[in-house]
Amino acid sequence: MTTEAIHEEVREHYAAAAARASAGLGPNAAESIGAGGYTDADRERLPEAAVLASLGCGNPTAVADLRAGERVLDLGSGGGIDVLLSAQRVGPTGRAFGLDMTDEMLALARRNATEAGATNVEFLKGHIEAIPLPAGSIDVVISNCVVNLAADKDAVFQEIARVLRPGGRIGISDIVAEDDLGPELRAERGSYAGCIAGALSVSEYRTGLEAVGFTDIEITPTHVAVEGLNSSIIKATKPSDATEPGDARSRLSLASSRDLPTAYAECCGGIECC
Ligand SMILES: C[S@@+](CC[C@H](N)C(=O)[O-])C[C@H]1O[C@@H](n2cnc3c(N)ncnc32)[C@H](O)[C@@H]1O
Repeated sequence: MTTEAIHEEVREHYAAAAARASAGLGPNAAESIGAGGYTDADRERLPEAAVLASLGCGNPTAVADLRAGERVLDLGSGGGIDVLLSAQRVGPTGRAFGLDMTDEMLALARRNATEAGATNVEFLKGHIEAIPLPAGSIDVVISNCVVNLAADKDAVFQEIARVLRPGGRIGISDIVAEDDLGPELRAERGSYAGCIAGALSVSEYRTGLEAVGFTDIEITPTHVAVEGLNSSIIKATKPSDATEPGDARSRLSLASSRDLPTAYAECCGGIECC
């Protein structure tokens, strides 16, 4: 399948999921592959619609150890549950960004943010393979059950490494295949849009992160999604002496980047006019 075909299949699937959540319905059975890990206290602090729209396979905000003042980016933010939780953890001096390609999910997430009264959040439209943020502008990248859906995983890893500041870190929940389960067997166990067929193996995940310079990589299975594929926590660090990628986006000063993304995404969604 082409990148465009994968994006369209996945987008249609999650547009329908957003419509169900907007109608007050939870995920269907095929989408319930282990969402959770949220405490009752987490759920109580969120709008019901944000909890209903949760389609992840873990709780990356719990593993990322977020601190006050940090800038967090959630890849594939869906209805916004992890962005809203991150916003609470980083507080008024921090900021939480959500990135998603599906208009219906972005609309749902923005409604949920308004209902939650969150002022330190921003939802951006775009692909996680081409993140519309400047280099070095983010302290922590989180994601919940989305990297497996990406059409180009290497591009995602490169983009994560680019937007993180040196010393930045990732805390991701994702479906990861056991190493002895080849791509054909993964595809037999579930669909691409259902977060199974596109899953990387443990070795593929590690190699992809190492290739873009991450260190301290930990990939820890938490529970079985389907036989041979586990919900897992992925942690890694961008070395503090890493040099910034030399693209035009890195010309933007970090001092101003806190307020930048709206203008950045709406102005150009890329590098040319910024
Ligand atoms: C399984 S849902 C997870 C949503 C959210 N992280 C959660 O835990 O509820 C996947 C989300 O990722 C988005 N998505 C999938 N592939 C994407 C891509 N390549 N670029 C941007 N967003 C993507 C979908 O639109 C959808 O909202």
